[in-house]
Amino acid sequence: MAAHAVRRFPEGFTWGTATAAHQIEGGNANNDWWEFEHAPDTVCAEPSGDACDSWDRWREDVELVASLGLDNYRFSVEWSRIEPAQGEFSRAALAHYRGLCAALRDRGIDPVVTLHHFTTPRWLTDQGGWESGAAVERFGRFSEVVAGALGDVMSRACTINEPNVVAVMGWMAGMFPPGKSDKELSRAVAQNLIAGHRVAVEAVRGAAPGVPVGLTLSMTDYQLLEGGEAKLESRRYHSEDVFLDATGGDDFLGVQVYTRNRIGPNGWAGAEPGVPVLDMGYEFYPASLANCLRRAWDYTGGSLPLLVTENGIGTTDDVQRIDYVRQALGGVLDAIAEGIDVRGYTYWSLLDNFEWALGYRPRFGLVSVNRTSFARTPKPSAAWFSSVAAANALDA
Ligand code: GAL
Repeated sequence: MAAHAVRRFPEGFTWGTATAAHQIEGGNANNDWWEFEHAPDTVCAEPSGDACDSWDRWREDVELVASLGLDNYRFSVEWSRIEPAQGEFSRAALAHYRGLCAALRDRGIDPVVTLHHFTTPRWLTDQGGWESGAAVERFGRFSEVVAGALGDVMSRACTINEPNVVAVMGWMAGMFPPGKSDKELSRAVAQNLIAGHRVAVEAVRGAAPGVPVGLTLSMTDYQLLEGGEAKLESRRYHSEDVFLDATGGDDFLGVQVYTRNRIGPNGWAGAEPGVPVLDMGYEFYPASLANCLRRAWDYTGGSLPLLVTENGIGTTDDVQRIDYVRQALGGVLDAIAEGIDVRGYTYWSLLDNFEWALGYRPRFGLVSVNRTSFARTPKPSAAWFSSVAAANALDA
C-alpha cells in the first residue's frame, strides 16, 4: 500500500462518542452505585460526587459533540431520577432528557439512548434488584415510559449496557454493587438481565415503533494458550454466548471492546510480557476490536448489523490514545473489507469521567474535565478523531 493511502469507511458510516449518566451527571444519590461508593468497607477508590456536573452542564456537552462534528451521541438515562420511587415517574426528569435529545437533533446529532447503564434505583435493589425476577417487569415498565416520552426524539435505543459485566462484576468479582461473589447467583442474575433485555426490546417497539433497538455487549478477544480450550469455551459461553443467543430479531448488536484475554489451562494468563498494561489493567491491544467484530458476526450468522457502541482507552498519554484508535479503526476497515456489516464507531468516552470502582484515575475522555471547576478542555485526540469522522476515512 502507498505511504499515504487513504482508506474510506462506507457511505453512511456513523461516528459518535458515548457517556453514561452516573459517570457524568453527578449527585445520583438514589441508586445502588452511590450506596456502594459510600459503604464503610467500599472497594471504590472514591465516590462519584459531582461527576462532571453534566446534569447541569449538558448543554456544554452537546456543544462539544457538535464542535467535533460527530453524528451521534450515546448517553444513558438515569432510572433513579426518572422513577425515584416505585411507580412514581418524574416528568421533570423526562423533560430534562427530552431537552437533551432535542438540542442534539437541532445540531444534526442523533441521540442514542441507553436505558440501563449499570445503575439501578435503590427502591428496587432494596427488593433484591436483579436477583429477583420482579426486576424484569419493573424494567419493562420503565422502558415503556422512557420510550413513550422520548420515542419521537431518539434515534436509537440500547437496552441494557453490558449485562455480562453487571452479572460478573456485581455477583462474582464483587467490584460492582451488590459486591457479591457467588457463581450460581451471578448466572441467575445474567438470566434476569437477558429477560430484561427482551422486555425492553418489546417496550421500545410498542411505545416507539420505528426506533431501532438492540443490546450493547461487552466482548473480549479471548485468545487460546496451550491447554486452555475448556476454560476458554466456558468463559466465552457464560460471558458472551448466552447473551448473543438473546439478540435474535433485534435491530442491531452493539459491540463494546477494550482488550484481549489470553486463556490458558488455569484461566486468564495475564498480560503478555512486553505488552503495555493500561490504567484499567487492560493490555494495550487495539486489534481486539476487529477480532470481536469477526466473532460477533460469525456467531450470529451475520443476522444483525453491528455497531461499535464503545471502544477506547484509559490513558493520560493522548498520543497513545490516537495510536490505539487509529489501529482499532484500521481493524474495523479490515472487518468491513471481509464483508462484515459494521455501521458505525462510537468512542468511549466524550469526557474524562467516573470510572466506577477506579474513580477518576483512568482517563478515557477526548475531553478533559477540571475536577474543581468542571471546565472542559478538548485534547489533541478530539481534533484527530473529529478529522477522521469528517473525512469518513483513515489516513493510513
Ligand atoms: C465499559 C462501560 C463504560 C466504561 C468503559 C471503560 O465496560 O460500559 O461505562 O466504564 O467500560 O472502562
